[in-house]
Amino acid sequence: MPQNQPQTQQFDLVILGAGSGGYACALRAAQHGLSVALVEKAKVGGTCLHVGCIPTKALLHAAEVADTARMASRFGVEATLTGIDMPAVLDYKDKVVSRLYKGLSGLVFGAKVTLVEGEGRLEGQPGHTPAVVVGDQRLTGRSVVLATGSYAKSLPGLDIGGPVMTSTEVLALDHVPKRTVVLGGGVIGVELASVLASFGSTVTIVEALPRLVAGEDEASSAALARAFKKRKITVRTNARFSAAERTGDGVTVTLEGGETLDADVLVVAVGRGPVTDGLGFEEAGVELDRGFVVADRRLRTSLPGVYAVGDIVPGPQLAHRGFAHGLFVADDIAGRNPLPVQDLLIPKVTYSSPEIASVGLTEAAAREQHGDAVQTYQYDLGGNGKSQILGTQGFVKVVRVEGGPIVGMHMVGERMGEQVGEAMLLVGWEATPADVTPLLHAHPTQNEAIGEAMLALA
Ligand code: NAI
Repeated sequence: MPQNQPQTQQFDLVILGAGSGGYACALRAAQHGLSVALVEKAKVGGTCLHVGCIPTKALLHAAEVADTARMASRFGVEATLTGIDMPAVLDYKDKVVSRLYKGLSGLVFGAKVTLVEGEGRLEGQPGHTPAVVVGDQRLTGRSVVLATGSYAKSLPGLDIGGPVMTSTEVLALDHVPKRTVVLGGGVIGVELASVLASFGSTVTIVEALPRLVAGEDEASSAALARAFKKRKITVRTNARFSAAERTGDGVTVTLEGGETLDADVLVVAVGRGPVTDGLGFEEAGVELDRGFVVADRRLRTSLPGVYAVGDIVPGPQLAHRGFAHGLFVADDIAGRNPLPVQDLLIPKVTYSSPEIASVGLTEAAAREQHGDAVQTYQYDLGGNGKSQILGTQGFVKVVRVEGGPIVGMHMVGERMGEQVGEAMLLVGWEATPADVTPLLHAHPTQNEAIGEAMLALA
């Protein structure tokens, strides 16, 4: 064989990227008896496991423990929070990640998926079997799945490094900064603001839009803003970033209009972009739109035989969506004719303190679709026994079509993320409040708040 000529291996399925979308697809396809190559340049598990959901939620749990200690006297418990040992926090977080990584690697190995380490590049042209080239290997697949995920974006002129960091670098902070500016009040911004404030940093969030977590129902944004105010987190909405200058020991952030904010650390959380650049997608004939892969409902790209899953497909950038995409494509390739993933039915949780959980339409979106035929009800957690025991405020808000199904559920409060499962079923099954009321919710749970809201509406 001539030198530099890649060695060709054939598979039923070649997957580029081993994050939530890629590994889910690989494992399910292997269960269907397909031969699978899974290409990964870093570690199986991707953003979610290594620099996203899992490590962030570990930090958020440590933050909750800190808050519990800080507020122990409220419950008559004598405890003193003497400090945050960041290296120990990082160690706890890393152990959680490495346990899950070990488990996942074992699953991939056990499923006889061929894991190919290295950076892959798509090769293809209509009428030819698509392939992924990794170093000197050429992996052809009857089907190829693009699952390359997303990266933390920055702004023009704002270089990441030193005190200026994205959510990735924050996960390795070995000390608690005295003052933090968080740029972007979306999901990542509010979660990291919440962690750092619980750890004792003085936090300011700078958000260009008029409210935090602008994708959520307005009632949720308002409740979070109130709760953050109580927690002494400064929220600057309608505030646009203009420049950041590194100073001797930190960074000075200038807002449009000239106001400056001094901080030890600037966290940049202005969204995540699709990883599609330089991977041969467009050259192979995969249509992109502003960097995202154009895919139909069945996740087929413009190049026959090539699918796309997860964050590179426009829509909510959530691990469980990527995971569901991966399962869908594997089932589809195996001829099981699965139902496509519906973005509107995907539950969302923001793990700040307090948490925000939602599924379906916001009240505003429901009114756009259904006009005046929309009914809402907001049950205050003040009436919920378990929430009072925990000392949390918040609500369950139900959005329904008048006389018809529940089309949206929005919840705020400590631990309310755990309630999103029932909310997802109610919206997904197009339940009416009257369908729910004969069914019981255990007492005393926060789950009862959903039951109370249904009673009120029925
Ligand atoms: P995002 O799009 O949710 O929020 C970014 C925010 O930055 C927006 O509110 C935007 O208005 C603001 N912004 C942009 N440019 C700005 C500027 N120049 N000045 C001031 N503000 C500016 O993106 P985020 O929070 O980075 O998250 C990325 C993705 O990751 C989201 O899709 C999110 O859903 C997902 N994610 C989900 C999590 C969860 O489900 N718990 C956790 C972490 C991320």
